[in-house]
Parts: sequence; structure tokens; C-alpha cells
Amino acid sequence: MTSIKDFVTNEMNSNEYLGKDLSNDIVKKSKKKIKKVVRFHELFRFATKLDWFYMLLGAIGSIGHGASIPLLWFMFGQITDSFTAYDFNLCSIDFDHISQLFCPENVNLTADNFRQQYKKCNYTQFNVTIPADIQSSNKIQLYSIYIALIGLGAFLCAYIQTSFWTMSGEKQTRKIRYRAFESLICNKNISYFDKHSPGKLTTLMSDGIYKINDGIGEKFGSCLQYLSSFITGLIIGFVNGWKLTLVIISMSPLLAISGILYSKISARMASKEQQIYAQAGQLAEQVLAAIKTVFAFNGSDFELKRYEQQLKLTQKNGIKMGAIFGLVTGFDYFVVFCADALGFWFGAKLIRTENYTIGQTLMVFFTVINSMFALGRSAPYFQAITSAKGSAYSIWKIIKTEKEFYREESSEGLKPSKIKGNIGFRNVYFAYPSRPTLTVLKNVSFDISAGQTVAIVGSTGSGKSTCIELLEKFYDPQSGFILLDNQYLNRYNIQWLRQHISVVSQQPILFETTVMENIRMGYKQATNSQIIDLCKNLGIHETIVNLSKINMFRLVL
Ligand SMILES: Nc1ncnc2c1ncn2[C@@H]1O[C@H](COP(=O)(O)OP(=O)(O)OP(=O)(O)O)[C@@H](O)[C@H]1O
Ligand SMILES: [Mg+2]
Repeated sequence: MTSIKDFVTNEMNSNEYLGKDLSNDIVKKSKKKIKKVVRFHELFRFATKLDWFYMLLGAIGSIGHGASIPLLWFMFGQITDSFTAYDFNLCSIDFDHISQLFCPENVNLTADNFRQQYKKCNYTQFNVTIPADIQSSNKIQLYSIYIALIGLGAFLCAYIQTSFWTMSGEKQTRKIRYRAFESLICNKNISYFDKHSPGKLTTLMSDGIYKINDGIGEKFGSCLQYLSSFITGLIIGFVNGWKLTLVIISMSPLLAISGILYSKISARMASKEQQIYAQAGQLAEQVLAAIKTVFAFNGSDFELKRYEQQLKLTQKNGIKMGAIFGLVTGFDYFVVFCADALGFWFGAKLIRTENYTIGQTLMVFFTVINSMFALGRSAPYFQAITSAKGSAYSIWKIIKTEKEFYREESSEGLKPSKIKGNIGFRNVYFAYPSRPTLTVLKNVSFDISAGQTVAIVGSTGSGKSTCIELLEKFYDPQSGFILLDNQYLNRYNIQWLRQHISVVSQQPILFETTVMENIRMGYKQATNSQIIDLCKNLGIHETIVNLSKINMFRLVL
């Protein structure tokens, strides 16, 4: 056991250690600037063959869904040309003159019946060229059917996209969650938890995995959808009017700049906002957890002011965010309107000089503008994938246990049927792996005989609880050894050993379930009547029954 002097030196050493730790932290922080992300394909490392099949279907859905809008604009162009061709020819025809010369007596051509009746006349003699669109009078109806079919396709594709990406994402996420939790509770040793705070681990398990789900699931599908919209639009644009396409996309660098600015600024502001909210949340958590101390020191006003300061910071950040978002969104619209103006001006020129049709010009114009919009809309989804890659880095680190944190609990070892309980510590030296410079136990030796009641007395931090933790084999001594019934502690089977030790620690933990289940944690096979007997023996049965009013099985503490 360490003396008071040792204790003071230890604490000083621990401060030194803290100093080193801090400087390490600074080094770590500067290293953090190197982006810690997994490679794209590693995001899908838990996908099964069935998941890949779902993702393939989802990708087909996304591509089809994305292509539907450019296809709609394509049909719009075709229909416009049909309309304009019809109007032009009919206006220039002298119906009375033609009817008299070339039609039977009972046929009198008008603008309204021209389509239906003109074939009854000797129309090859007409002094006008009858356009193909009017000859095939069903063309517009056909286009309308095509548009309805595109709508049906979009409906099916959107359904396939959303359901299959969500399904495969959820399946993979469930697996990731299970593997991470399994690795934490089955493969990690105690020193892992000394180095990684439970708060951070639970946040990673919830937020981190949620972000991965985002990046490999529905949002990935939406990203593909917008990319498909972008590419299909460009293809239609280039095939039907490459000059106009080139002119409109000449504005895209400006849109790209505003898009990049938007996503960068929003990412930075959002992370700052998250940080400030986390700080405010932490403060509220601390205050509520220690509410009695706060009351005891009459600290309510003080804490309220501290909380208010944090909230003011979030408000300031929110106002800044709003102003910047407003500017960037306004700029986006400005660029798109400029692209519109340029497109219309140049399109009109092409109609005059290059024989572009009106439908062709409008089709190219709308598909290309839509392409640019689609590219801009895909940006947040790309960001979701990047943030999934970042979260996956931390979660994969949880799933893969490093050698120093690996817990090996072999099923071998001594499992004697009887245990006496003679304990011996022989020249034990120990320092916690997370604070290797602070030797907590220095040359500690003592014997406790079976049945003996012993009180270990020492100042706070002198290592009393540490002795118990060594007995439970959470850690191994650096040197020296511990004996149980004259056998090295290491020779015993670890599960057997822990089953034979009862510990009431300084801060007992109760799980959020019934008292019955809490007691059964220590001995899974215990029957209800055994547990009730135990409670009676301990003199707590009545208290529990009174507390629950109904019965002890339903009491949740
Ligand atoms: N998990 C841990 N990681 C690093 N250091 C630890 C850990 N647990 C305890 N320590 C440090 O080891 C020393 C001994 O701690 P221990 O809990 O054994 O003291 P204790 O005698 O039980 O004190 P108390 O009377 O306050 O319960 C202290 O300096 C403490 O800060
Ligand atoms: Mg203690």
C-alpha cells in the first residue's frame, strides 16, 4: 500500500503525466488535420450478396428516376415542334381556293377539319407542303402516351430506388451496430474503456452509425439519381444542339463555385453549431447530474447565466449562418437566371442562323439547365457520403480490436469445485495502462485468511479499489503476484473466478430493469423463489415490496 508521501509524489507524477498527455493531445490535434476517412468501397464491407443485389436494383431505380426529367423535357421539345409545325402550315393555306379546285363537292376544307378531310381531296396538287406532323395526326397523342409512360417509369423507379437503398442500408447498419457492440463488450479489455470515454463511445454508436446509414442507404441512392439526371440531360443536350449546350454550361463553373462555397461553409458552420450545442448540452447534463450540489451552493443563478452564455453563442452562430446561406442562395439564383438569359438570347440566334427549331432550342435549354441544377443538388448527398466515410473510420476502429486492447478469456484454467478464500498479495507493483507513469501499487504484500474480515484503510487514491480490481483480474500486476488458495490467480478460469467474487463497489450500478433481473445478473440460473429468499435474508424484501406497492417483479429502479 502506498504511504501518504508516496501518494503525494504519485499525484505530482500524475500531474506531470497530465502535462504530457495534454501535449500529446496537441500533437494529436495537429495530426487530426490529416483526414481520417475510409476508402469509398470500404463503406460497403459488411454488405452480403443479397445487399449487393438490393443495391444493384436500387442503382437501376436511381438511374431511371434521374433520367425521367430530362426525358420529359425531350418530349416537351418534340411536342413543341409538332405544335409550331401545325400552326405555320394551316395559317398560310387559302382553304376556299383549294376546296374549289381540288376537292369533291361535299368537302369544304377549313382550319378545323383540315386534318380529317384533306385526304379526300387531290392533295398532291396543293401548292403547300403538308408537314409530316400533320400527316401522322396521331403524333401528339403518341407523345402524350410517351409522357404518361415516362411518369409511370419514374413512379416505379422512385419506388425501387427508395425501398431497395433503404433496405440494404438498414441491413448493413444493423450488422455494423451489432459488430461494434459485440467488439466492445466481448473483445475489449478494461484499459480500452480507461482510454475511451463511454460518452464518446455511445455517441459514436448512435450518431456515427446513423451517418454511415445515411451514406450507404437512401442518400447514396439520391446522389446517383441526381448524377443520372445530370448525365442524361447533358447527353440529350449535346445530341440535339451541342452549340447551345456548350454556351449554357459555360455558366456552370460559377454555379459550381457557389455550390462548393455553400457546402463548405454549411459544413463548417454546422459542425461549429454542433460543438456549441454539445457544450451547452454537456453543461446542462453536469448541472442536472449534480443538482444537489448546485442547490447546496445556491448556484442556480450562476449556472443559469453560464447556460445562457452558451445559448447566446448558438444564437450568434445561427444568425451568421442565416446571412451566409441567404447570400449564397441568392447568388445561386442570380447565376441560374443569367444562364437562362444567355440561353434564350443565344437560342434565338441559333433559330435564325443555324435552323434550330423552336422545340429543339427549348428542349436543349431546359435539359441542360436541369442538368446543372441536378449537379448542384447532388452536392449535399456527396457530403453525406464523405461524412459516412469519416464515421466509418471511427466505427471500423471499434470493430477491429488492436492488440493492446484485446481481451482473451480462454475457457481453460482451474475451476475447483470448492474455494476456501485465502488471499495473498506478494510484492505487487501496478500502474494503470492509461496512466503508465503513475505507479499506484508499489511493492504491496499482505495475506488475508479465509473467513477473516479485513478493512483496508488508506487515503483517497492510495489504491484500495485497485487491489480489488486486480483480484477480479481486470488488470494484471506489472510485477509480483496474487495468490488464491495458494495458487497463482492467473491459473484460474477467469469466468469461474469472477463468479466466486461478490463486490459492492463505491458506486453501485442498477440496470434499467426489475429488481429481480438486477439481482439475477450475478447468477443467471437463480429461480424467483431463490431471489426472494435472498432478499428476505438480506432484510430488503419488505422494502422492495413496499416500494413497488404491487409486487417486486414490476419494480423498475
Ligand atoms: N481506471 C483508471 N485509470 C487510471 N488511473 C486510475 C484508474 N482508476 C484509479 N486510478 C488512479 O489510481 C489511483 C488509485 O485509485 P483507487 O481508486 O484504487 O484509490 P482508492 O484508494 O480506492 O481511493 P478512494 O478512497 O477515493 O476510493 C488514483 O490516483 C486514481 O486516480
Ligand atoms: Mg476506492
